[in-house]
Amino acid sequence: MYGNFKIKENPVILGIESSCDETAAAVIRGRKLLSSVIISSATEQAKYGGVVPEIASRAHTEAVDEVVKQAVTQARIRLDELDAVAVTYGAGLLGALLVGLSFAKSLAYSLNIPLIAVNHIRGHLAASYICDEMLEPPYITLLASGGHTAILHTKNYTEFEVLGGTSDDAAGEAFDKVARILGLPYPGGPNVQRLAENGNPVIAFPQSLVKNSSNLQFSYSGLKTAVINYCHNAEQKGQEINPADVAASFQRSAIEPLVKKTVACALERGVETVTAGGGVVANDYLRSTLSSACAHAGLKLVLPEKKFCTDNAAMIAAEGSIQYKAGNFADMSINACAHIPLK
Ligand code: KG4
Ligand code: ZN
Repeated sequence: MYGNFKIKENPVILGIESSCDETAAAVIRGRKLLSSVIISSATEQAKYGGVVPEIASRAHTEAVDEVVKQAVTQARIRLDELDAVAVTYGAGLLGALLVGLSFAKSLAYSLNIPLIAVNHIRGHLAASYICDEMLEPPYITLLASGGHTAILHTKNYTEFEVLGGTSDDAAGEAFDKVARILGLPYPGGPNVQRLAENGNPVIAFPQSLVKNSSNLQFSYSGLKTAVINYCHNAEQKGQEINPADVAASFQRSAIEPLVKKTVACALERGVETVTAGGGVVANDYLRSTLSSACAHAGLKLVLPEKKFCTDNAAMIAAEGSIQYKAGNFADMSINACAHIPLK
């Protein structure tokens, strides 16, 4: 019979992630990452200008067995040495999530080890534990991904408070939309960054309430509209725009409020450590401005490597490790969820 698990001190956990276009698997022992493997369908998706859910599901079906095999081999463990399987059950594309979830259920069942259902966003938060094995709550996190933009206060390993979020688009969504306006291919964020590197932030696009750092809400629709209007006005007047300057100006306006509010929030709350997670945290301009702002304010910054900011399974295994210690095991009837509220 499935069940009756003993909790171990330093569990070996397999993480599986399949919420969007990355099929990923990773193995962690306690806090030590042993392997992390990603097979991405981004190149295939780029032909269609964005993620096509059915293509993502099919790609996960083809890749899930391979990423798990590689993750276990690179970790130099046997499958029967696993103590639990942690898997993203939401938020994300339903069909894509179901591939990873069904695979994880079968594996956990056949090995008679616990199944841990991980909220993808909590995974992004847990990425910081991989890059600093000594990191302990409390800390303030800047979360900026394709679906979320928020500042969070993690008080202990399992509880966090949401201090501020976005009133409309997420930061990553804004990067992707501006990429489309500028005619850049998918994935938008990294391409906007690349273009911005050749430009100067000379255009004064609006920033989301940056003057009032105690207001922790963000808004990206005004910035996006300002970029659209700038490009359309220039076109109507027959004027050439400098796309690199537009990208650099947008990037500065999108990122400065994130950095300023995160630092202001840590100082206000008297929390000495700042962490960050989510795809937008792979942005070099964000990384350098957040690093200097934290250094200037005397705050410790734990910044996950870029490969652990964008979607990966190491963060799912890391969050799995926390949930394992808390004994939060999932039932075999657990289903995938397209939307999970941040809190
Ligand atoms: O965390 P993530 O990989 O997936 C979600 O959970 O949403 O974040 C993806 C988002 C996309 O909007 C992508 O354009 C953005 O992160 N992104 C970036 C960069 N790399 C990824 N945005 C700006 N600069 C980057 N270098
Ligand atoms: Zn993500």
